[in-house]
Amino acid sequence: MFRCRKRNWAIIIIPFLIILCVRMYYWTERLPLPVPLELPFDPCKGKIANDTITALKYSKTFIVSAYHDDREQNVTRMVAIVNYKKVEDLYCWFCCSLSGRVSVIRAAITIHQDRVASHFGPAEIMCLEPQLCYPKYVSVHSSPKGEAKELPSFEIQNFWPKFSFFSAEFTLCLSVMFGNYSNVLQFIQNVEMYKILGAQKVVVYLHNCSQMMEQVLDFYVAEGTVEVIPWPIDLYINFSYFWYSHKDWLYGKTVVLNDCIYHNMYRSKYVVLNDIDEIILPVQHLRWQTMINSLEQQNPESGIFLFENSFFPQNVFSALDSDFNVSLWKTVPGTNILQHIYKEPNRVWINSPRRMIVNPRKVVQTSSNFILRGYSRTMDVSRDIGILYNCREHRDEEIPDKYLIRDTAIQRFSKPLVKSVNEVLAKLFPRKMPDSNKYFDRFTNILNY
Ligand SMILES: *[C@@H]1O[C@H](CO)[C@@H](O)[C@H](O)[C@H]1NC(C)=O
Ligand SMILES: *[C@@H]1O[C@H](CO)[C@@H](O)[C@H](O)[C@H]1NC(C)=O
Ligand SMILES: *[C@@H]1O[C@H](CO)[C@@H](O)[C@H](O)[C@H]1NC(C)=O
Ligand SMILES: *[C@@H]1O[C@H](CO)[C@@H](O)[C@H](O)[C@H]1NC(C)=O
Ligand SMILES: *[C@@H]1O[C@H](CO)[C@@H](O)[C@H](O)[C@H]1NC(C)=O
Ligand SMILES: *[C@@H]1O[C@H](CO)[C@@H](O)[C@H](O)[C@H]1NC(C)=O
Repeated sequence: MFRCRKRNWAIIIIPFLIILCVRMYYWTERLPLPVPLELPFDPCKGKIANDTITALKYSKTFIVSAYHDDREQNVTRMVAIVNYKKVEDLYCWFCCSLSGRVSVIRAAITIHQDRVASHFGPAEIMCLEPQLCYPKYVSVHSSPKGEAKELPSFEIQNFWPKFSFFSAEFTLCLSVMFGNYSNVLQFIQNVEMYKILGAQKVVVYLHNCSQMMEQVLDFYVAEGTVEVIPWPIDLYINFSYFWYSHKDWLYGKTVVLNDCIYHNMYRSKYVVLNDIDEIILPVQHLRWQTMINSLEQQNPESGIFLFENSFFPQNVFSALDSDFNVSLWKTVPGTNILQHIYKEPNRVWINSPRRMIVNPRKVVQTSSNFILRGYSRTMDVSRDIGILYNCREHRDEEIPDKYLIRDTAIQRFSKPLVKSVNEVLAKLFPRKMPDSNKYFDRFTNILNY
């Protein structure tokens, strides 16, 4: 049924889209499927792939992860990276847990439209699951023949939506952390802001970062806020040939965002997609939850909310309110977002980037600025309700300082932010602290015990 070559896509896709439109309308959240019998043995013992990125032996294809998706049909969908110039036929080798047999199905490969300079880019490898198979593992091969034992197997996640309740209300999916990332203060401030706004989880795909940043990540992992997923993409793809001003795209930004959406589909009620130096900032509300509730009340069909970029250059400073004691902040490198309250005017002639808060169960495929395919209406949120606070370096060709506009939306959160950042710094770097303070001693004790 799902056999198709690239040229025949239109034939497949048109009825598919019609079905999709109908299904979109009736889409409701599903109850968990009944769990099938466990067999006492696993008949298809391939090597289980446990690296974040796995190169397929005979092709220029890299598999990140495999997810079951029954929103349209019962399919296994793999988040992958392919070489656009060398796409070849692929087959899914399903390991059926009921029959103990291997079932081979031809894959449909969708290449994302939003690729950049590199030959490599995000793709989706999708196979219809055989009926009465209940596969737990799948392998991918360029041929329908061969020995299954030799192929790496991928665990199919999301098979039984394990979570009948969400373990997080809001989960952040950040773009790849790379290039010896060392903006420690801004990272801590942003994570604390995400928590203040209502996030329980922040997912970081880590390429590399400074030593101090590593310490900060370890701290947040222990706290249970951050989940670090190693992302050693340069071991697999050599992009030293290419130059692109937005390096994060080369590091596989859209690949990780798609993986993160599926990874959190049944864990998190909402997923927030933005870059490391950005915050989706409510302007009227104090928390994302109340902002989203009010947006949903006005637009019951929406599950995808887009926020427009406001760019606050890092080289324009303003004084910090002297009521706040931020002497500790000088001990860590990085930008202090509370000092950057001048933004560029909106440039209507430029399609400014947007970031999103989405219901992940309404998303099929995402880019970083918009949803490529999904099941719900997209809402452009007005700047009176929420903005994307984007605090990064100023480039020369950008708007001169005299045109900048004061916007103190971030400073509404100064008080809780200063308090929680100070608490984190006190726990993280107790040595750097002046010793006489009882409050800090308490944390030092916790840290040392
Ligand atoms: C990952 O796979 C390798 C080889 O199959 C195995 O030796 C190793 O223990 C696995 N690691 C984890 C964490 O499962
Ligand atoms: C998926 O498979 C299950 C079990 O075979 C079946 O009950 C369900 O209707 C299927 N879902 C779709 C969307 O085809
Ligand atoms: C981080 O990655 C960049 C680019 O691959 C490399 O130049 C740099 O040395 C790496 N830094 C660390 C600390 O590994
Ligand atoms: C990474 O950044 C840290 C802090 O900025 C610096 O000390 C270190 O030398 C850098 N390492 C590399 C490999 O660039
Ligand atoms: C990547 O390509 C550059 C330029 O050709 C080459 O010097 C380098 O050795 C390559 N690196 C890897 C890891 O293949
Ligand atoms: C600010 O906090 C530091 C560290 O706790 C303390 O040493 C300093 O005296 C405080 N400064 C003011 C003005 O309260």
